[in-house]
Amino acid sequence: MLDTQTIQIQKTGNSRLSSVDFNNLDFGAVFSDHMLVIDYANGEWQTPTILPFGNFSLSPANPALHYGQAIFEGLKAYKNEQGEISVFRPLANLERLNTSAERLCMPTLPEELYMHGLSELLRLDADWIPSAAGSALYIRPFMFGTGEFLGVRPATEYRFAIITCPVNAYYSSPLRVKVEEKYVRAVEGGFGFSKAAGNYAGSLLPAQKALEAGYHQLLWTDGKTHEYFEESGTMNLMFVINDTLITPALSTSILAGITRDSILQLAKDHGISVEERKVSVAEVMAEVQQGTLQEAFGCGTAAVISQIVTIGYQGQDFDLPPVSERKYSPLLAQTLDDIRTGKKPDTHHWMVQI
Ligand code: PLP
Ligand code: COI
Repeated sequence: MLDTQTIQIQKTGNSRLSSVDFNNLDFGAVFSDHMLVIDYANGEWQTPTILPFGNFSLSPANPALHYGQAIFEGLKAYKNEQGEISVFRPLANLERLNTSAERLCMPTLPEELYMHGLSELLRLDADWIPSAAGSALYIRPFMFGTGEFLGVRPATEYRFAIITCPVNAYYSSPLRVKVEEKYVRAVEGGFGFSKAAGNYAGSLLPAQKALEAGYHQLLWTDGKTHEYFEESGTMNLMFVINDTLITPALSTSILAGITRDSILQLAKDHGISVEERKVSVAEVMAEVQQGTLQEAFGCGTAAVISQIVTIGYQGQDFDLPPVSERKYSPLLAQTLDDIRTGKKPDTHHWMVQI
């Protein structure tokens, strides 16, 4: 039985911290000094190690490189004005990681191993957690198959690791998005609900085409008919119509966002009516054209709450109400931020102190 409290720690003698410009952070391009690595072999998780951030050595016949047995997560740590460190809903990310793992025939990770490894890593790299408004330490847990074979079957060995990077919000301006009517991100019965690397690989070409056409992101529609909205890029999607917050109901083709879940809860706390249901493109575009769509935004860990200001649909651009006229999403974004930075009581016990 693995002792989950034992971690081998190898500290760097050469911190890169002083060379980082915290005012100019390119998302996911600057990594903190250390990483956590836990290998899985012989049917069990091995002793965790924390070591200087650095390259892995892999066989060219590594199965994840060939068949994509790779999953990841994204969450954030915050530092409040007193210098205390907390992480937003880390167990929700573990639950989702394990859901993804099961779908991709990978081993699940025990809670104690994850929480203890994460806490030790954050304590060691505490100075990397920014405290300026809107910034955070982005935490990237991931797992992939290891070993050396080319047969198409689940790996028997795996590596789980966590790397971290100080970040600001992913999008710096309100978004122009395009309704995607040709490509699909995921289909019912597939693995769109999991945070599998392959879902992101498949989205690169359509996203690149959208970018070339002048949009920041896509609005993914369902894989069968393209009639219903699913999500947007790396965010879940929300609309406000008739003072009601509306979001596509979860399915096997939508990632169950933790920000989505938190926003829905906060909306209920504020007495805002909420609907999780199928949201058709026709319904939303009709509201847009009548001028009755009040708000549209995406939400996610990296993106936080990103306002949508223009929707491209069937070759035409439709402008939405200016951000300054929106009242629900700014209120929800502020409430979430206040909870994360300790300015409002954390009544749902989302923040885990490290
Ligand atoms: N949908 C996709 C495809 C994503 O990559 C993300 C980002 O993680 C989300 C939704 C939002 O999920 P969360 O709020 O848990 O970050
Ligand atoms: C996140 O918000 O954690 C994401 O996964 C987005 C990321 C792919 C940049």
